[in-house]
Amino acid sequence: MHPFIYSNFLIFNTSVSMDTNIEDKDLSRIKNDCCSEAPFQKKEHQVRILTTEEAAKLQNDRELVSEFKQLKLEREAQKNWDLFYKRNTTNFFKDRHWTTREFEELKACREFEGQRLTILEAGCGVGNCFFPLLEEDPHLFVYACDFSPRAVEFVTKNPLYSEKSCRAFQCDLTKDELTDTITEESVDVATLIFVLSAIHPDKMQIAVKNIYKVLKPGGYVLFRDYGLHDYAMLRFKSGSRLGDNFYVRQDGTRSYFFTNEYLLQLFTEAGYEEVLNEYVFRETVNKKEGLCVPRIFVQSKFRKPQNRNTF
Ligand SMILES: C[S@@+](CC[C@H](N)C(=O)[O-])C[C@H]1O[C@@H](n2cnc3c(N)ncnc32)[C@H](O)[C@@H]1O
Repeated sequence: MHPFIYSNFLIFNTSVSMDTNIEDKDLSRIKNDCCSEAPFQKKEHQVRILTTEEAAKLQNDRELVSEFKQLKLEREAQKNWDLFYKRNTTNFFKDRHWTTREFEELKACREFEGQRLTILEAGCGVGNCFFPLLEEDPHLFVYACDFSPRAVEFVTKNPLYSEKSCRAFQCDLTKDELTDTITEESVDVATLIFVLSAIHPDKMQIAVKNIYKVLKPGGYVLFRDYGLHDYAMLRFKSGSRLGDNFYVRQDGTRSYFFTNEYLLQLFTEAGYEEVLNEYVFRETVNKKEGLCVPRIFVQSKFRKPQNRNTF
């Protein structure tokens, strides 16, 4: 197997040591990587090829977390994310200023100049994605939901929050109907940014269909999340594996690592059309420690067809 060769480098001053305290170090790395502006990146349609050592590591790490513990993690998913926000408050994720650069639909899908676009940020956390959007384009209306009550509270307490331009509400995308709060077929663009990876694969379809109902025909879902063979996937210690490409962190939050094919199937089965579906390759370099780690994300756009299907 050939090792993957990177051509673009992104340099951070933060530590990327190989210590295995996942809760503190792995998450702080993700904080710096998945949430930065990512100016240097390369886009591909091929999954990253592992080195021989990486392939052996994944091959040897086949043991699964017990069914009992898996059921408990699923039952406590909301609680674990809420505790995450209790510990980290609004200080964990950085504002995502790259969204309008990567997703021109956030501006370009207006049918006429001055049209007020309705956006849904599903799994909004504390608003690191939509507040920068609102600052850039105050002529938006944003529905923002998350299943963590603390996250929603942080959103509503943000000085940029105003009922004229936002409506934040608590919602479990796998249990609660978005149509209880949002009029059917009223949303122009929905964003799912590092959210679906936190949902059990058996329930992702429910979340994606839930969003489908509130999207206008022709409306978009803009998606970015962890890709297969991302560095974070390779760093999980044995005993963290929940299933294929699915892992649990020490704090009980979970993470799935997507392939383009998996996403395509997930969204097309829910009735969407594929617009774009690719891998984003970046590299994090720690000059001081001479380490260079591969970050892989999936970035995709799916559209609800104009001639609607009902689910
Ligand atoms: C990694 S954070 C990303 C937050 C935000 N999208 C951002 O870009 O900063 C994942 C978020 O998904 C939320 N989440 C996970 N499962 C969810 C579910 N079933 N329904 C609603 N939100 C969920 C978590 O509470 C958390 O805020």
